Amino acid sequence: MNILLLGSGGREHALAWKIAQSPRLDSLFIAPGNAGTAAHGTNVNLDLRDFPAIIDFVLKHAINMVVVGPEEPLVRGIVDVFAATEAVAHIPVIGPTAAGAQLEGSKDFSKAFMERHAIPTARYKSFTPATLEEGQAYLRTFQAPYVLKASGLAAGKGVVIPETLEKAEQELEEMLGGKFGAAGNVVVIEEFMKGIECSVFVLSDSEHYLILPEAKDYKRIGEHDTGLNTGGMGAVSPVPFCTPDFMEKIRTRIIDPTIRGLRQEGIRYKGFIFIGIMNVDGNPMVVEYNCRMGDPETEVVIPRIENDLLDLLEATALGRLDEQTLGISPLTAVTVVTVSGGYPGAYQKGKVIHGLEELKNELVFHAGTHFQDEKVLSNGGRVLAFTSMADSLPEAISRSYRSIDRICYDGIYFRRDIGKDLSS
Ligand code: AMP
Ligand code: GLY
Repeated sequence: MNILLLGSGGREHALAWKIAQSPRLDSLFIAPGNAGTAAHGTNVNLDLRDFPAIIDFVLKHAINMVVVGPEEPLVRGIVDVFAATEAVAHIPVIGPTAAGAQLEGSKDFSKAFMERHAIPTARYKSFTPATLEEGQAYLRTFQAPYVLKASGLAAGKGVVIPETLEKAEQELEEMLGGKFGAAGNVVVIEEFMKGIECSVFVLSDSEHYLILPEAKDYKRIGEHDTGLNTGGMGAVSPVPFCTPDFMEKIRTRIIDPTIRGLRQEGIRYKGFIFIGIMNVDGNPMVVEYNCRMGDPETEVVIPRIENDLLDLLEATALGRLDEQTLGISPLTAVTVVTVSGGYPGAYQKGKVIHGLEELKNELVFHAGTHFQDEKVLSNGGRVLAFTSMADSLPEAISRSYRSIDRICYDGIYFRRDIGKDLSS
């Protein structure tokens, strides 16, 4: 099989690493990829918004399957465009149609979807600039803290949780006034859920599904979950509080009605569903859906999957996931992300990364890097993800930190407490 993988982060490096292990693979292309993905295939410089150029490439290189890493091409309808283009209509694109990607692309849609299918989530209402005053009144029906979400895609920055009513009212006005651009034309106000979060991943073929290993990610920049939100500073899988009993509640109360609901609404969904879950006193509630895998969660989820990933993805495309049995490693996986100094604020790129050649036997996934003059340079806020697998969580954690100790680049920063809250 010839595969085209879209994306350039740690998630895509982990997917490329796994796809490259398949004996069924002939050629793997990654667009645009990074210095890490180049070890498993050929990086190609395609603009992920330019669907005609992607289709051209697929035809020229006899691609048999396209795997989409990030949400944006899905929300923009890449699956629909392939289906409607005769020359490539037969080539599977792993991911939902634009209608299915609304689960992530529109929080207004996803909340209404959950309401229609009685899926447990926080009480909510949506507001527009025309209903600002009703929104202010709705805020007053909650206690602090308040949760406001720009409905559209806002690069992970669209959720604001003010501590006081005054700040919440001001925030609502700013969001509806264009603070997040068009993403904030509709704002969801919802109840704050108190609990501990985990991420659950489902591979759906529209009819059947597999539940992949769950994970917990660490979103804040500072230790003990302080400071600004980031794309994710580390992740752990499995999650100790995701007991068989808790996972069964997630399956029956959330996953089953989600898959059934998509089908009832005539939405074709052949791809990954990432469900952000809050464990509220032992009961799972949905925080959000994403129409893709998580990053850095993929860097711990994928290494624990024992199957040939191409078998799973082909079964997804063919609607035959019921014929697949998932093999999951009993080992614990941890990933620790190193970032550029200043991230998630302003940071510099282009710093030379030293020490990578010494870590050839470790799982170091590149999140934001590129090759230049035989050197690996930093090329993003998140730079590298150090994954380790071991019999115990503390062992996996210390192995990742030992690897990080052997790396340096100007301005390197990472959290030293990844997984520590779960290992006592
Ligand atoms: P989202 O993009 O919807 O996942 O929101 C980003 C983060 O904000 C989540 O991962 C949670 O940590 C937090 N969050 C979102 N909604 C809620 C809620 N209703 N209650 C508590 N925390 C929330
Ligand atoms: N780590 C969270 C995300 O991928 O959205």
